[in-house]
Amino acid sequence: MTATPRIVQVDAKPRRKPAVVQLLAEWEYLERSLHRMLCGWGRHFPDWTDKVAVSRHVWDQAECVRRLRERLVQFPGTHKNLETPVSESLEAFGDAVIMAHSLNDAVDGIYQLFINALVKSYLTYAEAAHPIHDAPTLAAISENVRAKEQMRLWLRDYRRRNPGRHSEEYGAKIATALAEANGLMGGLPVDRPAGTIGLNFRPAKRCAHSKNSQPTLDIMPVLECRFKDDLEVRRLFWCYGYLLAMNLAEEQLIWLYDAHEMPWEFQQDVSRHMWDESRHGDSGHSRLLDFGISIEEIGYPYYGGNKTDRPEVAEGAAAILSPKDLYDKVFFIGMVAETGHFHVKHEAYDDFKAGGDLESAEMMLFDIIDETSHVQYAHRWLPLLAERAGIEVDFRAEGAAFRARLQAETTARVDASQGTDHGLAGEKVEKLIARMRAIAPLSNANSCPPRSYKPM
Ligand SMILES: [Fe+2]
Ligand SMILES: [Fe+2]
Repeated sequence: MTATPRIVQVDAKPRRKPAVVQLLAEWEYLERSLHRMLCGWGRHFPDWTDKVAVSRHVWDQAECVRRLRERLVQFPGTHKNLETPVSESLEAFGDAVIMAHSLNDAVDGIYQLFINALVKSYLTYAEAAHPIHDAPTLAAISENVRAKEQMRLWLRDYRRRNPGRHSEEYGAKIATALAEANGLMGGLPVDRPAGTIGLNFRPAKRCAHSKNSQPTLDIMPVLECRFKDDLEVRRLFWCYGYLLAMNLAEEQLIWLYDAHEMPWEFQQDVSRHMWDESRHGDSGHSRLLDFGISIEEIGYPYYGGNKTDRPEVAEGAAAILSPKDLYDKVFFIGMVAETGHFHVKHEAYDDFKAGGDLESAEMMLFDIIDETSHVQYAHRWLPLLAERAGIEVDFRAEGAAFRARLQAETTARVDASQGTDHGLAGEKVEKLIARMRAIAPLSNANSCPPRSYKPM
């Protein structure tokens, strides 16, 4: 076996930057492009476990980018290094991967062809670098490669469940683009700097959801009507409401995709926010499973009640979010929905704890902790989002007015619906809470006083 020759990071030219700075900038660009590919294709996965995994991968990718950015600013040039131009051939390589014609192609393109080339580039440098001088870069590489290992393990599992292989034509296009990009081995001249990949790609308008995930009965009106008076109904509501938060994670993939001109720190925060919402979805799902209730039984409907016979296939192209659209979405989630739910979440936490259901209380508490950060993200970014949208607003005052309006509407709707016969949906709720009671009774189910109305 021959040892890989060392690549000394200093040459005879009069400059004080090691050559690895350029390579770091290229990796940062490639990791950001991979993050974008996952956001672009993430809405195509119908199965719950894949939604959970891909959301995690988006967050892992954000962390990979962050590590490289932190290392880049440690070299001479500091923050200017973050703007180091990289070759357009890297953009062409990324575009060859993201512009797949099918999910089957995209899965291999992203998780195998792109990731393998990137890992090879990392490992080639790691073998040739001075292990003491550039140990901080090697540490970042090692973390990033570990994240890719998790993705490759997921791919293996995905392919066991979804046998298939990418088309030859797609593979050939990627191979050509990779060769043009010198196999990602660095040292490419920059004639025209690379821009954002995938500007001609659109995420799906309607996400894929698993087969049999569309509920035949809508239990939400029942849960809303009985929410304030019935602790057992509130427990079912929270498990189900959390499950539905996966819809928000899926929507946030589009926020990320269309916010590519926002500072990276925004992408970082929204990536965490998106991963958290997918975890809230999975936390509700997991608690329902504790009670023996599956997605097939309770359903994973779309927000807004969209109906389709073929939920397993993602469809259409999402409209591009304008700066105003993005402002509105961040405003509504942060200043209305998230801020507006704290008081009922605290009530649920207290009541589940008092009733002896500590698992459900824990589900509430971890959500409240995450949600506190999410509201901080909204406060952090709404001023810049408003500026980009060209609007002047007092988002705190508008948020309070918006919440008050929704609360008044919900209160009126609930008061008017008292005593209604909810028919089959009402019976279904009765059966579900009876099963939950049999598994984990709440000792205060009958003694708990009425609590707040649902806030919206
Ligand atoms: Fe949430
Ligand atoms: Fe949230």
